Amino acid sequence: MPAVVIIGAQWGDEGKGKATDLLGSRIDYVVKFNGGNNAGHTVVIGDEKYALHLLPSGILTEGVVPVIANGVVIDIEVLFDELTALRARGVDVSKLVVSANAHVITQYHRTLDKVTERFLGKRQIGTTGRGIGPSYADKINRVGIRIQDLFDENILRQKVEGALHQKNQLLVKLYNRRAISVDEIVDDLLSYADRLRPLVADTGLLLNEALDAGKTVLFEGGQATMLDVDHGTYPFVTSSNSTAGGAATGSGIGPGRIERVIGIVKAYTTRVGSGPFPTELLDESGEFLRNKGFEFGTTTGRPRRTGWYDAPVARYSARVNGITDFVMTKLDVLTGLAEIPVCVAYEVDGVRVNEVPVSQSDFHHAVPIYENFPGWTEDISSARTFEELPKAAQEYVLAIEAISGSRISAIGVGPERDAIVVRHDLLG
Ligand code: GDP
Ligand code: IMO
Ligand code: MG
Repeated sequence: MPAVVIIGAQWGDEGKGKATDLLGSRIDYVVKFNGGNNAGHTVVIGDEKYALHLLPSGILTEGVVPVIANGVVIDIEVLFDELTALRARGVDVSKLVVSANAHVITQYHRTLDKVTERFLGKRQIGTTGRGIGPSYADKINRVGIRIQDLFDENILRQKVEGALHQKNQLLVKLYNRRAISVDEIVDDLLSYADRLRPLVADTGLLLNEALDAGKTVLFEGGQATMLDVDHGTYPFVTSSNSTAGGAATGSGIGPGRIERVIGIVKAYTTRVGSGPFPTELLDESGEFLRNKGFEFGTTTGRPRRTGWYDAPVARYSARVNGITDFVMTKLDVLTGLAEIPVCVAYEVDGVRVNEVPVSQSDFHHAVPIYENFPGWTEDISSARTFEELPKAAQEYVLAIEAISGSRISAIGVGPERDAIVVRHDLLG
């Protein structure tokens, strides 16, 4: 099983870290191909809880080679802080490889992220404020700084000068901020160069050689399908391709290498930040999901918006990503509900619509059409086979599977590493 992609099939925080962890020792390489330190993965191993923001969560699995590929934007300070923290907890981080072509997040990206959000006022995206969007904007605008630039001071200085030339005008004249000096940025970036050099390699070559040698490479997507800059709820999205196709462009492998696409869905839905969310619950059911599911951001601590499972969104994800298997997490959170509504279609201006509407305005005022399923009260956290789940829980999963566009191969029943029911081998 050469290249496998794991992506979020909703709006993020589906528990992608846990799914990666599940594949564990069968993986030789784990690759982060998009996003930056906006990602927040929580992985619970025994009594230890790890919150990762930039590093791929596969770094916690012994023997795996973690790779930060070209499609990522890197805040170098965060990178080293995260490595130091993991090392202090006894995690071997020595195998990490970083792409020479990945772009860098600098102080001016972080500043611009915050001031532009403030200026958007009511129209704000609700970004994580980590400078992700502005760094990708520079990449597309061809004024970005790449990791390899840190190893050539002349080039670095020229590029930073070029980038700041326009940005300082914006910062000072439009946003009423102080200008940022070229030296300040160059000195900061150069201070990491020596520590970074041994980690940097041609990761595209490395990954292709690994695949040629029959190694298993897992591509771990940050954020999720509905936050993808092309396929998500634009403009309320992140600034990269978080769908499965991003794994190819974001790492330098051919798309034909990808044999499995694993989509992670929660048994309900959550979203952080602004934008359409048809099944959102603003009542006590929403509070129930938030408190029971502990739906607060890993990165920003913000309360997540919560709602019922949205089958058209899952089907859309299955289609856009070519999902071969779903992993459904957090089924245990639904325990205790008398009835569980599932959105099976929408009503838009009085008309039933079965798929995610192509028009964003329609999606904004789409009203979910629900089908109700009976709940269960038994604790399911110790179930390890499908048969051990209460009948109603089995039926909920089967009903969702029938309308979500792909099979549900594993079901999360608790936050712990082994709290999972496997129905089909994800790599088989
Ligand atoms: P990611 O960003 O997709 O990696 O997800 P996050 O880490 O932001 O959020 C998922 C949260 O759900 C984490 O705190 C996990 O420990 C937790 N989690 C994962 N699977 C399950 C599950 O099956 N049940 C419960 N109760 N929690 C889970
Ligand atoms: P993980 O990896 C949930 C959301 C932000 C905002 C939008 C753009 O944990 O699933 P950005 O800072 O990327 O420019 O913000 O995307 N967002 C996430 N939501 N989980 C994430 O990461 C997210 N990363 C970004 O809240 O709405
Ligand atoms: Mg997260």
